[in-house]
Amino acid sequence: MKVLHVFHSQTGNTKKVAQTIEKSVIESGCKITTVQAKAKGDPIQLMDYDLVLIGSGVYGWLPGKPMMDWLAERAKESMTEFGGSGILKPGSPRLLNKYVAIYCTFGGSHTGINEAIPAVKYMGQLFDHLGFTIAAEWYMPGAYGVPKLEHHNTQGRLGDIRNRPNENDLNAMAEKVKGLIASIKPPTSPVE
Ligand SMILES: Cc1cc2nc3c(=O)[nH]c(=O)nc-3n(C[C@H](O)[C@H](O)[C@H](O)COP(=O)(O)O)c2cc1C
Repeated sequence: MKVLHVFHSQTGNTKKVAQTIEKSVIESGCKITTVQAKAKGDPIQLMDYDLVLIGSGVYGWLPGKPMMDWLAERAKESMTEFGGSGILKPGSPRLLNKYVAIYCTFGGSHTGINEAIPAVKYMGQLFDHLGFTIAAEWYMPGAYGVPKLEHHNTQGRLGDIRNRPNENDLNAMAEKVKGLIASIKPPTSPVE
């Protein structure tokens, strides 16, 4: 099973999660290509992959700008209306055995998970439009990494999130990735 992994991390939290995810995918016996989101000059063909893992930190309730640009570019490339390949069709017909799992790290200091949900839903929509099955959505607390926002790490809706994601968070993510892959990986030999 071929896995594409795209992430954006501004202050390093999502990068830690991304490294854990990459390791878990490899341990699950899959081939993974990991890239950091940037809009231009990305030669990736989404349909070459069976599973896409996509993640970002949350900024102003949405993914970071490089991820937003990456998604917009891929959408344009997929639509004939914008000179693209036409894989994004009206009605978004479902595709067999094409999956996406979306994740974010977020601080949630104002409204908790509600301010991270739009970011995850946003990242998922390109793939839903293409016909992929949304197989998982994962939310991980991530400490605010700039000094002027440090009080948000102790006074927000998630309580004390200093040092998150921590080792427990990363171990839990590793298990989720392995569980997901086990659930969608085709059997290696035909079933009798
Ligand atoms: C400028 C700034 C804006 C942020 N905005 C939000 C936000 O709107 N909602 C939220 O839940 N977390 C917000 N966060 C917290 C980040 O989402 C969190 O720290 C995340 O783990 C950062 O990921 P990264 O280190 O991979 O970039 C913000 C952090 C910064 C520095």
